[in-house]
Amino acid sequence: MLSCRHIMTMSDLDADDIISILDTADSFSEVNERRIKKLPTLRGRTVVNLFLEPSTRTRTSFELAAKRLSADAINFSASASATVKGESLRDTARTLSAMACDLVIVRHRYAGAPHMLAECMDAHIINGGDGIHEHPTQALLDLFTMRRTLGRLEGLTVGIIGDIAHSRVAGSLVPALRTVGATPVVIGPPTLMPARPDVLGADVAYSLDEALPTLDVAYMLRVQFERADAMPFPSNREYARLYGMNASRMASAKPEMIVMHPGPMNRGVEISADVADSPRSVVLDQVNAGVAVRMAVMYLLLGGEDSGAAA
Ligand code: NCD
Repeated sequence: MLSCRHIMTMSDLDADDIISILDTADSFSEVNERRIKKLPTLRGRTVVNLFLEPSTRTRTSFELAAKRLSADAINFSASASATVKGESLRDTARTLSAMACDLVIVRHRYAGAPHMLAECMDAHIINGGDGIHEHPTQALLDLFTMRRTLGRLEGLTVGIIGDIAHSRVAGSLVPALRTVGATPVVIGPPTLMPARPDVLGADVAYSLDEALPTLDVAYMLRVQFERADAMPFPSNREYARLYGMNASRMASAKPEMIVMHPGPMNRGVEISADVADSPRSVVLDQVNAGVAVRMAVMYLLLGGEDSGAAA
């Protein structure tokens, strides 16, 4: 069981919660290797994916996780739901509440949307990404992938590189790393840093080349062009030259350093194609971990312990 009812921000989870999610995800990832990848754990429970912003991997990952635990999973997307007819989020929440669903995963362009849902419905809420604020399950699957690949979390130095200002991934990953005893370093151009990077709780660096040799993980972020008011650098080429991960940069990193990316990747901008497809890239391991980690959070939130063990 977790110490919280909802997962809206990383601050909902303490170190014990995080470790219990990662350990539970370990046992679910074994299930995901089986030919029959289904457990009866959440049979009869209803999970709603309320995705009011575009998503491919997060939505499908939650859907697959719910189905592998035998829950009934329903998808609401922006274009298919009454929100395009002007229904407010509050009314959507009341409607879902009246249908007695147990868990809602919400993705929304406004920070705080998950909190609003939690106020007007009884279901558990998981934040699937709210504006530029947080994306806690992404951070959890990232921790899972780091622990699997590098064998530990404590003491790791993790560079989070690129568009820090608009990144909800960084918003969750920085506190998550601190909670487990790793050191986050945010690295990017001043135009893609928040106004007060010092309050993030991470070390701050502006030169990737200087910080690179200290890193155990290089976590590349997509530049969120859709959230920026203006082009934050002269050209993609210029950005790639200073902040992109490429083969020549990899040569000055620790030999065991891994490269991560939450997807979708802009090949040739923040990451070159050869690095993205190299053995030191764990991008597909992250996607794979996403299903097991989301199974774990659903299982632990819905108190699945009554209805069967993980393995
Ligand atoms: C991220 C997101 O949507 O915040 N992607 C994801 O969830 N896999 C990052 C991004 O869009 O760049």
